[in-house]
This record gives sequence, C-alpha cells and structure tokens, in this order.
Amino acid sequence: MANLPVLFHVLLCLTLCLPGFCDAGGENFVFSTFAGAGDLNLDGAAGVTPEGLLELTNDMVSIKGHAFYPTPLRFKESPNGTARSFSATFVFAIVAAGGYPNANGTDGMAFLVAPTTNFSDAEPGQFMGFLGGAAMNHTFAVELDTYRNAELRDIDGNHVGVDVAGLYSVESRTASFHDDGDGGALKNLSLDSGEPIQVWVDYDGKGRQVNVTLAPVGVAKPSTPLLSNISDLSAVLTEQAYVGFSAATGPIKTHHYVLAWSFAMDGPAPPIDFKKLPKLPYDNDHETLSKALIALPIAASALILATCVAVTLLLRRRLAFAELREDWEVEFGPHRFSYKDLFNATQGFKDKNLLGAGGFGKVYKGVLPSSKSEVAVKRVSHDSSQGIKEFISEVVSIGHLRHRNLVQLLGYCRRKGELLLVYEYMPNGSLDKYLYGEDKKPVLEWAERFRIIKDVASALFYLHEKWEQVVVHRDIKASNVLLDGETTAHLGDFGLARLYDHGTDLQTTTTRVVGTMGYMAPELARTGKASPLTDVFAFGAFLLEVACGRHPVSGGGEMLVDRVLEYWRGGALLETVDARLRGGGYDAGEARLVLTLGLMCSHPFPSGRPTMRQVVQYLDGDAPLPELTPASVSLLSMMQSEGSFDRSALQCPWWGNSIGTMTPDISVGI
Ligand SMILES: *[C@@H]1O[C@H](CO)[C@@H](O)[C@H](O)[C@H]1NC(C)=O
Ligand SMILES: *[C@@H]1O[C@H](CO)[C@@H](O)[C@H](O)[C@H]1NC(C)=O
Ligand SMILES: *[C@@H]1O[C@H](CO)[C@@H](O)[C@H](O)[C@H]1NC(C)=O
Ligand SMILES: *[C@@H]1O[C@H](CO)[C@@H](O)[C@H](O)[C@H]1NC(C)=O
Ligand SMILES: *[C@@H]1O[C@H](CO)[C@@H](O)[C@H](O)[C@H]1NC(C)=O
Ligand SMILES: *[C@@H]1O[C@H](CO)[C@@H](O)[C@H](O)[C@H]1NC(C)=O
Ligand SMILES: *[C@@H]1O[C@H](CO)[C@@H](O)[C@H](O)[C@H]1NC(C)=O
Repeated sequence: MANLPVLFHVLLCLTLCLPGFCDAGGENFVFSTFAGAGDLNLDGAAGVTPEGLLELTNDMVSIKGHAFYPTPLRFKESPNGTARSFSATFVFAIVAAGGYPNANGTDGMAFLVAPTTNFSDAEPGQFMGFLGGAAMNHTFAVELDTYRNAELRDIDGNHVGVDVAGLYSVESRTASFHDDGDGGALKNLSLDSGEPIQVWVDYDGKGRQVNVTLAPVGVAKPSTPLLSNISDLSAVLTEQAYVGFSAATGPIKTHHYVLAWSFAMDGPAPPIDFKKLPKLPYDNDHETLSKALIALPIAASALILATCVAVTLLLRRRLAFAELREDWEVEFGPHRFSYKDLFNATQGFKDKNLLGAGGFGKVYKGVLPSSKSEVAVKRVSHDSSQGIKEFISEVVSIGHLRHRNLVQLLGYCRRKGELLLVYEYMPNGSLDKYLYGEDKKPVLEWAERFRIIKDVASALFYLHEKWEQVVVHRDIKASNVLLDGETTAHLGDFGLARLYDHGTDLQTTTTRVVGTMGYMAPELARTGKASPLTDVFAFGAFLLEVACGRHPVSGGGEMLVDRVLEYWRGGALLETVDARLRGGGYDAGEARLVLTLGLMCSHPFPSGRPTMRQVVQYLDGDAPLPELTPASVSLLSMMQSEGSFDRSALQCPWWGNSIGTMTPDISVGI
C-alpha cells in the first residue's frame, strides 16, 4: 500500500507526458489565451484583461510594461557553455491613439530573453522599456518598432529588428512577410494596424542563427523567414534567463497586446490553439464598414490634431472660437476637436444643417474642412465644470467602443458652458422617421425591421457583456437607432450611458433617474438604479414599437405593452403587427417571436427578464423561446392594473411631457 502514491505519481506523469504535451522540466509552454494565466510576472502597466489579452501598455503616454514567464529557463548547460536552440511564437496587436486602427503608435514592443525581470532602470519611449538598462549586455530581443528614432539608427517607423546586447539592432527589416500563397512574394504588414500578427523567433544553437518570421493571423508560417542572422548568443545569454515581453509608449497612447504565446527549448514552439485566441476589445471582423466609415474621420482627426496646437494659439485671441482646455486633457489629445473646425464644418451651426433636436441638445451635420468627411456634431449645454474630467474620460472610453452596430464617437470639444460631441454621420437618419413615415420615408419591410432588431440586440449584448467594462446605455429607443447608407442599424446617443467595471454591484450605484417615458423600467423610475436589465426593459418596448409601428405610449396615454398583452390573451397576437405590413406580408414566426420577446423583456421584475445574451440567442434561433407563461403574464397585468407598476413615477415633473431625455448632469459625472 505504501507504494500507491508513487505508482499514482508515475501514472500521472505518464498521462501528462503525452506526445506534444510533455513539459520536460517546465521548458515548454503554451498560452492560447492569457485568461487564467495568473502566474505571469507582470510589472508597470502590464495586466491581463477580462477577455484574456495580455496588455503590456494601456491608454497612457510614456509608460512601460513587462510580462515574463515566472521561472527562468536554462539557456546554457554551464556558464561558459553554448546557447541552446529555442523557439518562440506569439500573436500580438498594436492599437494606437485610443483604439483607432491605422493611427500610428509609439513606441513598440519586444520579445526578450533576459537575465532578470527587473527592468525598472530602463526607459519608456524609444527605449521600449528594455534598452539602456543594466541588463542590456545580456539581453537578446526581437523588437517590433513602430516609431523611427534616428539616433537609434532605426530604418523606418514600422520595422522588426534583432537586438543582441545593445541599443542598435544588428539587423532589421520593414515589417513584411513572404507570402507562400503568392510564390513567396514579399507583402508589407503594418505593425500598428490593430490587426493581430503572428511572430516566430527561432534560434539554432549549432548553426548560431536567428530567424524571425511574421505573418497575419490565419496565414501558416511562411517558409522563408523575414530576417535571418548569424549571431552567436552564447556570449550574450546567461545560463539561466527569463523569457517575456516589454513594451513602452511615447507621446501617443498605444495599447500593446499579446494574444497568445508558446515557447520550447530544443524544438519548434508548440502550436497555438487559435480557437481560444482572445478577442481584441474592438470589432475587427467587419472591415468593410469600419474601414470606410472609421478610417476617414480618424485620418481627419489625426490631421486636425497635428494642426490643433498651432490653430489653438491663433484662436485664443478670437473670442468667437474660444475653447476650454486644461492640462489634464493632454492625454485625451487625439479625441479633442478644435471648435473652429467644428464651427466651419457645420457652417457656423446653421439651421439648414440641423439633423435633430431633443431634450439633450441639437445635432448638426458637418463636413470636416480638412478631410471632407461627414460627421454629426451634437451640442450639449452644461454649466458646471465640476466633474467634467470624469465626464470627458467616460466620453473617451466610449470612443473606444468598437462594434458595427454602434455609432462611432469620434471625439469632443469643450467651450464655456458647452460641450460638443462628434460622431460618425449616418446618412439615413433615425429609425423612428421610418416607423412613423415622417419626412416621406418609405415604410420599412418586415425583413428590414427584423434585421434592425437583431443589429440593436447585438450592439446591446456587446455593451453589456463583451467589452472590458459594462456599459449601460440608459436611453434605448427608436429615435436613437440610426441607419447608415446600407440601412444597417447603429445604436447611438451615448449621452446618458454609464460605465461600470464587470462585477460591480449595480444595485448599489444610484444615479439620477434618466430615460424616456415608455422605455423606463419600473424599478428604475422607483429607485434610480440603472442596470443592464433596465436596458433590456427598454429594448422590450423597442421590440414592440418596431413590430407594431406604434409609440410605446400613445397620445391618449395608452401603453403599447398593455395593448399587445390584451391581444396575446385573446389569442390574436399577430393582429398587433403594424397594419401597413399586414396586407403586404410578413414572417408570422418572426413576428410572433419579436412580440413575445417584447413582452418578456417588459416583465415588471428584473429577474423575470431575459439577459441580452439570451435575447440574441432567441433572435438567432440558437435557443428556443420559452413559453410565455400565463403566470408571468398575469403578474404583468396584475402589476399594471393595480397601479403598483407606478405610472405616476413615469410622469415625473422634471420630464415635462413625453420626451424625457435631459441635459446631462455633469456633477454626477453622468
Ligand atoms: C568561464 O570563462 C571565464 C573566462 O572567460 C573563466 O575565467 C572561467 O574559469 C570559465 N568557467 C568555467 C566553468 O569554465
Ligand atoms: C504614420 O506612418 C506612416 C508611415 O510610417 C506615415 O506615412 C504617416 O504620415 C504617419 N501618420 C501620422 C499621423 O503620423
Ligand atoms: C530593480 O533594480 C533596481 C536597480 O536597478 C533596484 O533599485 C530595485 O530594488 C530592483 N527591484 C526589485 C524588485 O528587485
Ligand atoms: C556593456 O558592454 C559594454 C562593452 O561591451 C561596456 O562598455 C558596458 O560597460 C557594459 N555595460 C554594463 C551595464 O555592463
Ligand atoms: C512596402 O514598404 C516599403 C517600405 O516602407 C515601401 O518602400 C514599399 O513600397 C511597400 N510596398 C508595398 C507593396 O506597399
Ligand atoms: C532559418 O532560416 C534559414 C533560411 O530559410 C533556414 O535554412 C534555417 O534552417 C532556419 N533556421 C531555423 C532555426 O529555423
Ligand atoms: C548579422 O548580425 C551581425 C552582427 O551580429 C552583422 O554583422 C551581420 O551583418 C548580420 N547579417 C547577417 C546576414 O548575418
């Protein structure tokens, strides 16, 4: 019996040492995602995001971050021995200037083999957080450099270099790869495009040769390396050394991410499981739209930024264009628009450029003078400067949201008593105009309505669960859904949105009650506690509105949800579908799904409502819609008929009549 533990241990080893997984002395490892990789040695700005990304630098200028495998590996058999062969592969992405693809980043990142994990003496910026320190003479690095520093003899602002014990690369190449699918032709890559790129670093201890190979994710390792150099690492590497990454930012805030990483001694690096690869915090699946609609204004805003300083100095003298600008705004630089540009873009905020007006402010169409790209500029009044910093940082965070069904916030400008928010322009305007046939808009077909519903659901699911923070939109309604040139729906107007860290107890964070009548969950009206489930309630009202083509609260005060409920009880649910569609045909199954789901989302108790994740599954047909039970319906109607649904709360005096959006209350940091 005493041998049992030993036997067990042997069995365990046998099971663990299957071919390909054998971890000989801890010298091989694979991180296909960093979720759960709790034991990395991190410092500076480095951290692991909830999505499982290893983030080396975040949204700050002049910072550095390091991440190392926690235990040192044996690179030489003895202090004076020959360096052993090793291979590493990793996937990285560099996202510059607050998340905009195609903006140039600074300064770059590197894969390191180093004698220490302590790089506290290395500088950020051009030194990428590892050059120039005491450990430099024993550090081997492969740098991914996005900035040209003449004094470091950099070849350009987009290169890959091999650094052997020194400040200057022994060899470097413009980032590119040999495309085996195209006869080995050299194709350029942009390191800071925001797209994930895979790198292989292979060192042959016998041949004393370093190879570095790049390719976009999804492309197999090219047979010809980008860079191949005869360098003996034996004199450089210490017997025991750490492997990891360093990254640093200079004057432009830049995210440096590692998505996956594997390493092996004396053999090829284990394959990465690409199915587990974490998602970047912006949506890069939808290139056509984002490239077209985002790249232009971004290029424009970069240009504006460059001229901003000079322009502002001139403008200072001219009161008409006076802006408020404080020191803390430096870090939001790329998001700041100059007032003069916005003034010119909208022809001086002329009425003929007015797109709409609400309780919140007026929205104008504009064409940025420098790039000729179209934007929507919203003027919001505010009188208090208190809390404005928090407000702007939330605006900037919201500017980082990336989803094909969200209206992109491009930046802001601040004046005395006034805030201007700049959004991408949506040529087809808001959905309510189509639903109610305003401006001679054509009636929306059912198929379009259903697609719009799915678009909005997908945007909300992203806001609630898929981004790094929980975003509660707080003002879902048809007039906040905008249609682009192709009638893809974009959820807009983040004027009231709030951000929370994942895991925050939302029940304890009271905010001032905001929202629009007919879309406000009863608990929100009663307690002021906004949560993802209050958004679900509003989404329910939106579903009914789109399917029935009626306002959630009619002129006579009748609630649309009551009407649909009555018809449901009478077994005639489909008779509530928009009368203009009933002749022309609609998909009865889809309509029933939307109406039933609308009722479920309108449940008076938050716990009775589905989450947006479930809503998306129901709409996509990935999960069957549960039966609407007579019990929940009777609860719904009981609450309503007894008045505990609290209609009075929905007619708060501070709203005026039916349009309830209000000016943001800066002092609560909206
Ligand atoms: C390693 O080399 C140094 C000089 O290069 C020498 O002084 C030392 O004795 C050598 N150590 C071993 C273990 O060979
Ligand atoms: C970004 O880099 C490219 C190539 O290195 C350069 O042509 C372009 O002007 C840069 N853009 C900005 C905004 O600095
Ligand atoms: C890192 O190195 C610096 C000197 O280069 C030293 O002052 C500091 O204490 C070291 N930090 C740790 C955690 O060892
Ligand atoms: C690094 O090596 C160079 C020459 O090879 C030497 O001058 C320098 O002092 C060394 N630096 C450190 C920190 O050991
Ligand atoms: C690739 O980049 C290099 C260096 O920036 C440039 O000279 C070359 O024209 C580029 N090639 C293509 C196909 O864009
Ligand atoms: C490096 O690349 C060369 C040329 O393609 C190749 O012959 C050699 O085997 C490669 N070495 C390693 C370690 O991958
Ligand atoms: C490789 O690096 C060495 C310095 O270590 C350099 O002298 C040489 O030119 C580089 N290029 C090649 C092709 O080996």
